[in-house]
Amino acid sequence: MKRTCDSSASMAKRPALAPMQNQLATPPTSPEKNSVVDLSNQIKGHRRTLHFTGDSIYSKAKALFQRGAYNDVSENLVGRESEALLLRTFLESSIAENKCNSLYISGPPGTGKTAQTNLTLDWICSAPAANGVYTIGGRTTKVIRVNCMTVSKPENIFHELYLSITSQTGIKKKLFDDLYALLCSKTDADSIVVVLDEMDYLITKDQQVLFQLFHCASQMKSSVFQTKLVIVGISNALDLTDKFLPRLRSNGFNPDTLQFLPYTSEQIKRVVTAKLDSLVETNKENAGVSGKPVSLMHPSAVQMCCRKCASVTGDLRKAFDICYKSIELVEQQARKQENFADLTMETAPKVLLSHVARVCSLSFGDTSQQKIAALNLLQKAVLCCLFDNEKNHNKTSMEPITVNELYEFYCKVSVEATENLLGRLRKGEFLEIVSGLDSSSAIILSTGKGFSNVDIGKKIVRPNVPYAEVMKVTENQPVLKRILHASV
Ligand SMILES: Nc1ncnc2c1ncn2[C@@H]1O[C@H](COP(=O)(O)OP(=O)(O)OP(=O)(O)O)[C@@H](O)[C@H]1O
Ligand SMILES: [Mg+2]
Repeated sequence: MKRTCDSSASMAKRPALAPMQNQLATPPTSPEKNSVVDLSNQIKGHRRTLHFTGDSIYSKAKALFQRGAYNDVSENLVGRESEALLLRTFLESSIAENKCNSLYISGPPGTGKTAQTNLTLDWICSAPAANGVYTIGGRTTKVIRVNCMTVSKPENIFHELYLSITSQTGIKKKLFDDLYALLCSKTDADSIVVVLDEMDYLITKDQQVLFQLFHCASQMKSSVFQTKLVIVGISNALDLTDKFLPRLRSNGFNPDTLQFLPYTSEQIKRVVTAKLDSLVETNKENAGVSGKPVSLMHPSAVQMCCRKCASVTGDLRKAFDICYKSIELVEQQARKQENFADLTMETAPKVLLSHVARVCSLSFGDTSQQKIAALNLLQKAVLCCLFDNEKNHNKTSMEPITVNELYEFYCKVSVEATENLLGRLRKGEFLEIVSGLDSSSAIILSTGKGFSNVDIGKKIVRPNVPYAEVMKVTENQPVLKRILHASV
């Protein structure tokens, strides 16, 4: 199923830089950004080495999930194969064809925009640079990475870029016209690649600064500039995609676009598992006696962490935080053992589902209102369907209902009530949404008496948030209101 997320919740520009109340202390932006720098001559400088705070298995595992930990040396992040290819092709062809060009990368927080862009730049700039100038596709190229959050005023970006291109310091403040004149002349590189991360910080009332920058990087400037400008703008602000892009296009500047969708639970699992597996690789002596890799986290614990993260935001940082805190929790318990120092991968107590559940309930210890607010539209719709069924069902029977029965009810009653506004979920999609609701504890799934391990369709489903809160949410969403009262 194509993931549907409540765009207002997941794509919205982050408000302040503070983490949301009662949630994991996840900084909303990528951690390694602190100055406007030309990294062309220290291109791998953004990488952080892992910090080991001790030698135990747990310390090593925690280091993998530490903020800013960077242990990927491949061309693309797990799950970002197609985005990496598009980005690389864009950069290589713009440079080789010696033209001005621009690309706009958008997507919700924690979806790998910054990390993948850095990885791709590292990859294409892997040959040693002479004075910060690389040769790519036979052309000389300088790469400037700017975190726009650190630019004190949007207009200052012109000065910062001028300094980086000319490698000058302490000169009189340069304005847009100076930068323009510089690009018209020959510099020591054929092309300048400028990555504008957190580009929304350059928004001004009239969007003039961004407008000027993208104008310079439009293909019509290729014949005017002797030094070509290639811009990669990155942002997660919806208003930039909604308003700024159409305005650029209507003025004849046509940036390419690349969207990073939230990670699915399966993709998050691949990332987390790859990290845990790397721990086994580097600790071969700690692999199981059977020769099979032993993971520090039980598969069901990984599964729950990934499902929780995907159902809330799809921000990978949340999954890393849950793993980190769960490992820490087990570490604290294991420390009480006398042989703590001798624990190996095989003998060390593992992270189980119960540890992850505890961390989730502490970290996401949300109120019902927050739980509902974090759901996407389809999840809310299924929740309303469940409440509608309860009202209807209680009139006729006291028996609790199963997920399969709820799906039948959904097909018979709810779909019609929405007049196809939300489409009709297939069974598999419905089950996926139900398990997402379960992970975010908006509902409770349980097995009936005498059963164990039944498949999800046969599980009993009950709401775990008050009806009154759901009613409130539907007030501004007529389609949900219709579902909630469909059978009345
Ligand atoms: N597929 C992946 N595999 C491994 N680590 C990843 C992957 N995607 C993202 N990360 C890690 O998750 C963290 C968040 O990613 P990143 O900073 O690239 O997000 P972003 O999309 O730029 O978010 P924001 O919009 O908040 O800036 C980083 O530490 C990054 O290294
Ligand atoms: Mg980022």
